[in-house]
Amino acid sequence: MTIIFGTMSSKGGAGKSTIAKLIAGEYALNDDSRVLLVDSDPSQNVQAWWMQCGEKGQQPENIDFVSALQTKALDDLMLRKADYGAIIIDTAGRDSVILKNILDYVDVVLTPVQAAKREIDAMSKAIEIVDAYNESHSKAVKHFIIRTRVTAINQRSNEYRFIRQYVEEINKHGYRSRLLDAELVERNIYREIENGYGTVQMQQLTDPVKKARIEVMRLMAEIERHLAVRTLEAA
Ligand SMILES: Nc1ncnc2c1ncn2[C@@H]1O[C@H](COP(=O)(O)OP(=O)(O)OP(=O)(O)O)[C@@H](O)[C@H]1O
Ligand SMILES: [Mg+2]
Repeated sequence: MTIIFGTMSSKGGAGKSTIAKLIAGEYALNDDSRVLLVDSDPSQNVQAWWMQCGEKGQQPENIDFVSALQTKALDDLMLRKADYGAIIIDTAGRDSVILKNILDYVDVVLTPVQAAKREIDAMSKAIEIVDAYNESHSKAVKHFIIRTRVTAINQRSNEYRFIRQYVEEINKHGYRSRLLDAELVERNIYREIENGYGTVQMQQLTDPVKKARIEVMRLMAEIERHLAVRTLEAA
């Protein structure tokens, strides 16, 4: 079965495209199925990365890339859904045609959040959007929140603590968005590969790369665990 992810945060620079590429890279390690990475952000950052990867001969194996800026393009992609094990749609950090409609396509929304007020506001907006959509469409799109760019310093901040408190509070009120335990630390390697060096999973296993790989594997394991629960519920 194909699983479709979409990123969501109205805060520019939250870490959406980074998460999209990390997850695509992880699914691409599975030789049994291909991954489709979709850039639905008009600024086309993922596309720029993909093209640079091509120029450097570093395009990831097992990933197909496509740009889709209109819902028509996404509708067309959905016809090929069965060709892929996972589809990851990266969206814009501001209003765009696709952002409003992304929920029609995805099984899981991923919202990165950093320990800062505007990031938390954007997370809160994403929680509202997913909840309102599920209510009005009688659907159960999953919403996972991932803390990112975590540092030892910001882990001690009120904003960092507030993220968990906030999500716990809204969970008590029936919102089903889930804050993942796995988080992404601030890592140079996530930035360095942006200039066309492929995915983290393609990098030589130096110590920093190993740490990043373990972090991403933990994140994926937690996501998979929550998705397995969904499958059981459905059965
Ligand atoms: N965990 C991290 N460690 C280090 N750098 C990070 C991390 N996550 C994201 N970044 C960097 O932060 C910048 C913004 O990240 P990214 O492009 O993923 O955000 P975005 O939400 O997609 O932004 P936009 O809304 O503009 O599309 C990038 O330069 C990226 O490399
Ligand atoms: Mg982006």
